[in-house]
Amino acid sequence: MRQSSLVVVANRLPIDDNTAPDGACEWRRSPGGLVSALHPLLRAAPATWVGWAGGTGPAPVLPDVDGVRMHSVPLSQADLHDHYEGFANSTLWPLYHDAVEQPVHHRRWWEAYQRVNQRFAEATAEVAEPGALVWVQDYHLQLVPGLLRALRPDLRIGFFLHVPFPPPELFMQLPRRAELLRGMLGADLVGFQRAQAAHNFAQLAVKVLQLPATDRRIAVDDRVVRIGAFPVSIDTAEMAALATRPDVAARAARLRHDLGNPGQVILSVDRMDYTKGIEQRLKAYSELLADGHVKVRDTVLVQVAVPSRERVGQYQDLRERVEREVGRINGEFGRVGEPAIHYLTQPFDRAELTALYRVADVMAVTPLRDGMNLVAKEYVAARVDDAGALLLSEFAGAAAELSQAYLVNPHDLEGLKQGLLTALRADPADVRERMRAMREHLHRHDIRAWARSYLSALDESDSLLTRLGANA
Ligand code: ADP
Ligand code: F6P
Repeated sequence: MRQSSLVVVANRLPIDDNTAPDGACEWRRSPGGLVSALHPLLRAAPATWVGWAGGTGPAPVLPDVDGVRMHSVPLSQADLHDHYEGFANSTLWPLYHDAVEQPVHHRRWWEAYQRVNQRFAEATAEVAEPGALVWVQDYHLQLVPGLLRALRPDLRIGFFLHVPFPPPELFMQLPRRAELLRGMLGADLVGFQRAQAAHNFAQLAVKVLQLPATDRRIAVDDRVVRIGAFPVSIDTAEMAALATRPDVAARAARLRHDLGNPGQVILSVDRMDYTKGIEQRLKAYSELLADGHVKVRDTVLVQVAVPSRERVGQYQDLRERVEREVGRINGEFGRVGEPAIHYLTQPFDRAELTALYRVADVMAVTPLRDGMNLVAKEYVAARVDDAGALLLSEFAGAAAELSQAYLVNPHDLEGLKQGLLTALRADPADVRERMRAMREHLHRHDIRAWARSYLSALDESDSLLTRLGANA
């Protein structure tokens, strides 16, 4: 078994299988931000990424992808159902997002969560060289830091939660709350998107485990676990480069033409998830049409909603409700050749998505709760022309940084309607000033800055990062 000095552990591997025209299957790096951010570092280490390759059955043996070793962890049908769809996405996901849907609890799901976390910990223990740096990602793997420390006390272990970490009153509902906290506290550094999340975690360490804790440090046995906020970001430069490509600009112009050259385009891009506030947004838009504040010929809404976690009942029900409402709104307010909403459920490549961002006069990002929301940051990075108004939910992590956005409370229907109108009618000079400030922020706080700040906090002695030249 080849061992690495840097190991990333995440539910999914950063690869897609691409089938060539001759039927040959080839694994390629998928375009996610985390992979792009870590890639130079991973390649120099050389590092290993431990994760699930999708599907069920035996773990495929995968070739290195762009110099990074892929170590796949298998999931059975039962694991997929009880761990991924069950405990991760039907218990933790809704609970961590303010319980906007009812979290479901089953003892069998907890057993699967433990079993799969143990498998990930064992796989990581095998591929980490002595003293290696291990970075565990997200809510699917909260027990891994503790399990891994028991197997390999020599490792330096980081954990980062991409989703919100809830206030104590919600977290306390979890039947296995103590075990989940202890699992995360197996890390040397626990990172969150927002300072409030670190505060919630510290409060819970005191309340549930009676540990001495501040918002920066928690004493566990004979160790100190550091905690803090490290807001994740995007590859700003790559997005800006895409946005300035002539073919992307031409595609944006074509899209505007195909939309009927409306006065204004509102865009929303979400995974089809009940946390994203899609239904509330549709209701606000439909009422604006009914009130006559917005007219179909002047304004169009493009709603991209790519299906997600499709075997989970709450996601199936949401999709049905959204599609019924889109049909109703188009039936009631559309005209022949002029729908009120352009509704798309397809995945798009980066260039097409960037062209859509460039066409959007108003980008409506109004989740009920979101760890960060990278779409909001992508839109800002794509507006190299400093035009475009970002309507952003106060409940997205991004709102803590993008304070110049037009901020709304998506639970307040009147406020949401007013927010849409304000963004649609905003003075172009005001729009430009806000966009410029947000672009400047993202220029300084891109994904590389995020990875560097997290890893240098984890690697206190800076030995690995210095060796990799990552501090340059
Ligand atoms: P989440 O992590 O909850 O899905 P984010 O907004 O943080 O939400 O990230 C979503 C990511 O998925 C963004 O990088 C966005 O560009 C991408 N994405 C969303 N919809 C599509 C789509 N239809 N096609 C391709 N990429 C998409
Ligand atoms: O942002 C949370 C998250 O679970 C990410 O880890 C993941 O990339 C994204 O949502 C999509 O979810 P899934 O991996 O369940 O398709």
